[in-house]
Amino acid sequence: MAGFFLLGLLMGVLMVGSVISAKFDELFQSNWALDHITYEGEVLKLKLDNYSGAGFQSKSKYLFGKVSIQIKLVEGDSAGTVTAFYMSSDGPNHNEFDFEFLGNTTGEPYLVQTNIYVNGGGNREQRMNLWFDPTTDFHTYSLLWNQHQVVFIIDETPIRVHSNMEHKGIPFPKDQAMGVYSSIWNADDWATQGGRVKTDWTHAPFVATYRGFEIDACECPVTMAATEKCSSNGDKRYWWDEPTLSELSLHQSHQLLWVRANHMVYDYCSDTARFPATPEECLHHRH
Ligand SMILES: *[C@@H]1O[C@H](CO)[C@@H](O)[C@H](O)[C@H]1NC(C)=O
Ligand SMILES: *[C@@H]1O[C@H](CO)[C@@H](O)[C@H](O)[C@H]1NC(C)=O
Repeated sequence: MAGFFLLGLLMGVLMVGSVISAKFDELFQSNWALDHITYEGEVLKLKLDNYSGAGFQSKSKYLFGKVSIQIKLVEGDSAGTVTAFYMSSDGPNHNEFDFEFLGNTTGEPYLVQTNIYVNGGGNREQRMNLWFDPTTDFHTYSLLWNQHQVVFIIDETPIRVHSNMEHKGIPFPKDQAMGVYSSIWNADDWATQGGRVKTDWTHAPFVATYRGFEIDACECPVTMAATEKCSSNGDKRYWWDEPTLSELSLHQSHQLLWVRANHMVYDYCSDTARFPATPEECLHHRH
């Protein structure tokens, strides 16, 4: 009996493992240092050492939808490392939505930096600490994107909203299909405490662990008339175009206020030293 039970358990573990790798292989491929990426049981690991970081990207490009990945960030000493999860289009006028997790020395908090590039221009950084330890367990990081807003979400709590304010003459990223990317690399020139703390290579390899890859978005070859294919019109309705998703719900607005009040450590919108003239989208954002 015990033998059968163990066999069943082992098969279960193997099957979960192959389901995870099948899902990853269906959606993603390595784009940097294949030898620093491993499947271990039901998870995928990216490793950074003094030879190389590692990364992967989606096989397809997407316009609108929701992308989620569960990540367990580097445990222990992660100072100097950055683990990123982002969407980006190609070319000099690219758009980009970034989560960058800035490592720290053992016991000191990670920061999550978010940024948005529109038509090739970034400089829209926000930084937050987190209400949990992101290194002890998996948490779900998501990007929701439609014609009205880009929402950065952690465990279904919105931490940032970038609203479409084209009616105020402010460009909104909605015409370029984007790939989905993740990577880990050494950024000890800036990441931790402003670059004062360097990567301690005796603690390598630094490992970020992944599972739960989900893309529910409009798949779109770059060459295609993207907006045409991925817009709801006539009988074709995409779920992310539902009116309820054109802005945060009241509950989500409260969650966002709570996050901003308790966890925000930097917002480019209030950095008057860096931007003597307040960036235009900041004047209109309701947060
Ligand atoms: C690292 O820890 C220090 C000390 O607690 C803190 O000031 C800093 O914001 C933390 N995060 C980063 C990325 O430097
Ligand atoms: C990388 O780090 C290891 C362990 O600290 C060390 O032995 C090795 O020489 C380093 N390699 C390079 C290329 O720096």
